[in-house]
Amino acid sequence: PRRVRTRHFQNAKRDGIKITGLTSYDQLTARIFDEAGIDFLLVGDSSGNNVFGYETTLPVTVDELIPLTRAVAGAVKRAFVVADMPFGSYEVGAEEALHTAIRFMKETGAHAVKLEGGTRSAEQIRRIVQAGIPVMAHIGYTPQSEHGLGGHIIQGRGDAVERLLADAKAVEEAGAFAVVLEMVPSDAARQVTELLEIPTISVGAGAHTDGQLLVWTDWAGLTTGRVPKFVKQYADLAGILGRAAAEWRTDVANGTYPSPEHSYE
Ligand code: KIV
Ligand code: NA
Repeated sequence: PRRVRTRHFQNAKRDGIKITGLTSYDQLTARIFDEAGIDFLLVGDSSGNNVFGYETTLPVTVDELIPLTRAVAGAVKRAFVVADMPFGSYEVGAEEALHTAIRFMKETGAHAVKLEGGTRSAEQIRRIVQAGIPVMAHIGYTPQSEHGLGGHIIQGRGDAVERLLADAKAVEEAGAFAVVLEMVPSDAARQVTELLEIPTISVGAGAHTDGQLLVWTDWAGLTTGRVPKFVKQYADLAGILGRAAAEWRTDVANGTYPSPEHSYE
């Protein structure tokens, strides 16, 4: 299969073909999602919650994300792999942001980086793009600034749509090839999508965007506990694995496993 490149994102928007993305943190899921034709895989700092067991994404480091990103990038044949820049790896300035982006590109085989923030991150985006590294922007609800935003709150409601549009314009002008809109009302996302030349990717931003992205563990029902309203669960992996573990445990306890079939003579 032909590799997905940034121009495919642009062409998809032009042709009205929806772009699909899932997060992935390991080679097993990367292979499966790639073969299923998912266009891009995001090695998100949502691995903070889903892999490392942190309460938020804030503690996640570049050193933690690099091996996960390398595993995903090494497993795909077609999908475009995006490395998520964690909190504290780009906010200080464009120079720091570029250093982090270069590390991901050199050490993982990812095809692009993602960072959070609109106007406030425009300088960083510009600098990274100038170095030949594609940037996926991320505006609306930005989990790394949860405390600054006052919690897990929908962004771009009412008058705040102006701010969202300004952020969208800022990342496009800075050179981002696509922008993630997280947790914004559908109509605000529609306005951003109409305003921009670059494709918009919704994660909880409704149907009027150029693409959709979900956190794979939420989407596959592996997350235990509450998932956001915008997630539709396409599988019940927690149930499947839980039942398998309980069944195996019982089989071992009663001697059903291993049978001669699963033993060497
Ligand atoms: O880390 C992540 O999974 C993300 C998406 C939710 C946009 O940044
Ligand atoms: Na993220």
